[in-house]
Amino acid sequence: MLLFLLLVLNSKTNAQIDPALCRYPLGMEDGRIKNDDITASSQWYDTTGPQYGRLNREEGDGAWCPAGQLQPSDVQYLQLDLRHLTFVTVVATQGRYARSSGNEFARKYRLDYSRDGHRWISWRNRSGNEIIVGNVNTYASVVKDLHPPIITRFLRLIPVTDAVHTVCMRVEVFGCPWQDGLTAYSAPEGQTMMAPGYPITSLNDSTYDGVLERRRLLGGLGQMTDGVIGQDDFVPMLQYQLWPGYDYVGWRNDSLGPGYVEMEFQFDRQRNFTSMKVHSNNMFSRGVKVFSSVSCAFKPHLISEWETEPVEFSTVLDDRNPSARYVTVPLERRSGTALRCRFFFADTWMMFSEISFQSATNPVPTPRPPVMTSPPSVTESQALTTLKTDVTMTTPKPQPPEEGGTSVLIGCLVTIILLLVVIIFLILWCQYVCKVLEKAPRRILEEEVTVRLSSCSDTIVLQTPPVPPRMSLDPPYERVFLLDPQYQDPAALRVKLPELSQSAEASECGGGYAEPDVTQCTPHQGFQNSVPHYAETDIVNLQGVTGSNMYAVPAVTVDSLTRKDISVAEFPREHLIFREKLGEGQFGEVHLCEAEGLAEFLGEGAPLPEQDGRAVLVAVKQLRADATSNARNDFLKEIKIMSRLNDPNIIRLLCVCVHSDPLCMVTEYMENGDLNMFLSQREIESTLTHANNIPSVSMADLLHMAVQIASGMKYLASLNFVHRDLATRNCLLDRQLTIKISDFGMSRNLYSSDYYRIQGRAVLPIRWMAWESILLGKFTTASDVWAFGVTLWEIFTLCREQPYSLLTDEQVIENSGEFFRNQGRQIYLSLPPLCPSSLFELMMRCWSRDIRDRPSFSSLYQALRPHAHHS
Ligand code: ADE
Repeated sequence: MLLFLLLVLNSKTNAQIDPALCRYPLGMEDGRIKNDDITASSQWYDTTGPQYGRLNREEGDGAWCPAGQLQPSDVQYLQLDLRHLTFVTVVATQGRYARSSGNEFARKYRLDYSRDGHRWISWRNRSGNEIIVGNVNTYASVVKDLHPPIITRFLRLIPVTDAVHTVCMRVEVFGCPWQDGLTAYSAPEGQTMMAPGYPITSLNDSTYDGVLERRRLLGGLGQMTDGVIGQDDFVPMLQYQLWPGYDYVGWRNDSLGPGYVEMEFQFDRQRNFTSMKVHSNNMFSRGVKVFSSVSCAFKPHLISEWETEPVEFSTVLDDRNPSARYVTVPLERRSGTALRCRFFFADTWMMFSEISFQSATNPVPTPRPPVMTSPPSVTESQALTTLKTDVTMTTPKPQPPEEGGTSVLIGCLVTIILLLVVIIFLILWCQYVCKVLEKAPRRILEEEVTVRLSSCSDTIVLQTPPVPPRMSLDPPYERVFLLDPQYQDPAALRVKLPELSQSAEASECGGGYAEPDVTQCTPHQGFQNSVPHYAETDIVNLQGVTGSNMYAVPAVTVDSLTRKDISVAEFPREHLIFREKLGEGQFGEVHLCEAEGLAEFLGEGAPLPEQDGRAVLVAVKQLRADATSNARNDFLKEIKIMSRLNDPNIIRLLCVCVHSDPLCMVTEYMENGDLNMFLSQREIESTLTHANNIPSVSMADLLHMAVQIASGMKYLASLNFVHRDLATRNCLLDRQLTIKISDFGMSRNLYSSDYYRIQGRAVLPIRWMAWESILLGKFTTASDVWAFGVTLWEIFTLCREQPYSLLTDEQVIENSGEFFRNQGRQIYLSLPPLCPSSLFELMMRCWSRDIRDRPSFSSLYQALRPHAHHS
């Protein structure tokens, strides 16, 4: 079952690898790489065969040693088959220690790799150098970061010597699965930018591992898949002593006749593409902009033709913010093994630094799950029996993926069978999860909850793993990283949902997931005896247009709100002029529109920003014509509720179009988008950001943001409104950086990884949710306070990291069990580097186990206000 779960989870891929986090040991030391997958060009003797080339292990004669003495011209290799395309970021090597009788190690080595088992490529660092400096003794492991990383299935480690030597090696490789599945891209060769007063900027793809033919890059991967995001400005990358523009591949419009750049992307197998993310420069002051539109054609199979119907997407051009950014291109779940995209120029130059794909595939056997390991270190020594001179050649057994008609057919059949199994599994899984997460808590008695939750003895262990005793000499790690919890492997943590389900009464999957208990909206009226009291109240969940649950309010409040007719004015829809799409969800879309005559329509005192003669821009949330009648009702309720909200820090409903379909609600447009996007594109203000014109925010700005959110939430809480999805992604900023809390729903593609999906039903922002919301479905103002704490944490990490990024969704749920058990094993978000400790204490109070110990929004507002000198 678990394997299947892994299969299913793995089949949904979410790309955009962060090389700093993709550093899991791939299984030499712990044996997940099987002996059969470790081969060598030769071995000295049976007991120094390739299977003994495992880091920190002492089996056999303690290492892999190629036959005979190595001459400088020899090419001997240890070959690993990682079974799947893998993003390899680090290599660690060790010599032959063999309980201190070993004497051999590789001072230098190089790497060859192959994605298909046929074409081998020599790895080079960013300066073109192939040689990696290896070991200096027999026992210490030397860990080397690969810049650039390698995307490969097969890897060869090739010891290099200057003189005749015997060499032996033990190795580990680190990385993570390459879920994009991209095996090659082709593009026009990058060009050189020359402008008076600026350094010459070479925008070629300097790490491309394919070939250059007639000015086109063919058959390889390179800078656009190396995980290095380009700077806003294409300044030299000083840390690597690289040239200007290093991190971008760029093209000049007039040098490429048709006004677009055509790229082709080849994938390992057929995938259903949800989106493509293109990290693009936007230094418009130097003639660089993101593409104006893109058109992507799909090829369903290796041998088929391109489909005639492309997916087309236009971007919002931005000549105010020069920050480089990700542009997400929705790909409508189209299926293909290859894509051909034409990116149309919006200006003289177009520059890309990364392209990633989000896609779902049919499940295939999962890559070996990464596990936690101790740092490369010397293990117990082992006596070495004498090396014998008997040489055994081992033929490498690369296993290239099958091609051709039969394999396609077999693949299809296997896929269909797997799909059926997955569907059955999902049905069973849904029943299980529904029981756990939905029904059980509603019926459960306090006592039962306590007993069952505390009987679950599984723990989450995030502590540093015990380090085996070391030699007094510290190994010369290039970077000490394995001890850093940041790099510990979350998959090694034990995952088990708290055993609520067993106690639940059998019930079907119907009904909403969360039934907010707003009878307990005030934090201090929460638990009696610190045991959660669960009361079923008649709560209306408002389904936002984008598929969300809008603010939850007690039925009585909704009633009073809905009794009256909609007090908000009907605007003539023909006066809404579509400008661009801002987002979309299950039940509708949000558009940026120009609203002709809106200022006059709303009359004096209307809450519109200064337009200085320009058109009034508004955000228009529109229900899909084919939305269900439930969605339609919810949309109308949402309008009624929003029309009653009147606070400077809550998004304001201006007017509606409900006399005819499609139903629309018109809200103020917030020019600076959402807070998550805004902060993730900024640095903290410093002399450096000033000198280099880097978009920045000050600490005072951050505090001012926190105060505004507290203020908006104080207002919502005063009306007994429970937001249920407070997060930076749901806070909008206008031109003056005023924040308004909103709710976009949980299905915006952009932030879909922030939500935990229960198959076909609820989507839950579990990383922002209080333990009682996760375990008991209990949403209150106090759980909004918890989410506020997480939102503060996001603000002070400048949204660079997802909360609990090292935990899987299941581990986050398990962690909420630890919060409930309160035995000191719960994991808290850690102090962000920018965050003053007094503020972190405030966050920690928001994450109090007992809701009585959580501050109210009024007290949060009072506590934060003095710090923010803006207000
Ligand atoms: N996206 C969704 N609603 C928005 C709004 N009101 N302003 C800006 N971007 C939005």
